[in-house]
Amino acid sequence: MSTLITNIGELVTNAPDGDSAPGPGPFAVQTGAAVVIDDGVVAWTGPASQAPAADDIVDAQERAVLPGFVDSHAHLVFAGERGAEFAARMAGQPYQAGGIRTTVAATRAASDVTLRANLRRLADELGRQGTTTFECKSGYGLTVRDEARSLRLAAEVTPEVTYLGAHVVPPEYADDRDGYLDLVCGPMLEACAPYARWIDVFCERDAFDGAETARVLAAGQAAGLLARVHAGQLGPGPGVQVAVAAGAASADHCTFLTGEDVAALASSSTVATLLPAVEFSCRQPYPDARGLLAAGATVALATDCNPGSCFTSSMALCVALAVREMHLTTEEAVWSATAGGARALRRPDVGHLGVGARADLLMLDAPSHAYLAYRPGVPLTAAVWRAGRLIAARPELLPR
Ligand code: NIG
Ligand code: FE
Repeated sequence: MSTLITNIGELVTNAPDGDSAPGPGPFAVQTGAAVVIDDGVVAWTGPASQAPAADDIVDAQERAVLPGFVDSHAHLVFAGERGAEFAARMAGQPYQAGGIRTTVAATRAASDVTLRANLRRLADELGRQGTTTFECKSGYGLTVRDEARSLRLAAEVTPEVTYLGAHVVPPEYADDRDGYLDLVCGPMLEACAPYARWIDVFCERDAFDGAETARVLAAGQAAGLLARVHAGQLGPGPGVQVAVAAGAASADHCTFLTGEDVAALASSSTVATLLPAVEFSCRQPYPDARGLLAAGATVALATDCNPGSCFTSSMALCVALAVREMHLTTEEAVWSATAGGARALRRPDVGHLGVGARADLLMLDAPSHAYLAYRPGVPLTAAVWRAGRLIAARPELLPR
């Protein structure tokens, strides 16, 4: 079953440039374009006037089409909410990692049915806004049973599942950090590894230090998991260096970076994943995205959707903030929210619309990608396809 989407005003392809490793290439667009999707993948792109026939036709009416967003950092398995903490923060209280324990208590107390319903509601919310690949962490269970069930539920909605037993030390281990780390690297890892692809550590002054982070990553890697790290969210620290030394796919937050951190990211394959909606929601300074790009680092954008530091699921908001507050061009921001996320998740099949890519497409109610920043806060989703399947659409855009 093939679908031709034609009369596309601007088609953002990020298509592979041929010479490099598989996966997205640089930002690239075609105007007056069409795309054919067949059997869940991109089968053809080119000028609308030369488009081949297909079973269905969708007239884009000069709208823009981009690769679906790739949100490479989200914490979606939790119960409870922390609206009052957010309000207190806006009234002057600082963000503290300790708020995580509030969500841990609510998550442990929740049934599987509640956790699954919460997770599916958020997963649907992401999809409706054009996110077609997303990562999902545990980290609000912090017992063997609660981490394993968080990951089991996450694996129902995405393959990009991340074990974050090292989020914070839970209250019952407050006087026994080493005992908790033994658990995280031992029985908890054993119970969680079958559901996860990734291991992550919150490397921060109120969470885990550099040596502890390195230990947890090494244990995860020995169990077959790939590494990613929360680094430099609340202050400068060893997170980026530990991430790069471990060969992590991504160092996330990067709000506080030293010159050495920037150099380490630029000379490695570790992606700098920036989470500007966290800075927005915590009233923090924004990371030096221009400095990272100038040094040659790969930059991704992600939401960090979680009940504490940042409760948005909108990649469009992240693009708008990256452009307005971090001085990325609209092209750089959209690339980072699609191809950059794909690099951070080591997923060559998404983040671009080259022939053979998974048919993940976001059609905007706008003529160009720039409108994501030009019209901040406006719902611009006209239609979304994930693996060739239409998951959201304005009625007039249904195939005929
Ligand atoms: O990425 N930094 C650690 N984890 C989350 C916040 C979690 C929370 O506050 O509940 C983050 O910002
Ligand atoms: Fe996070």
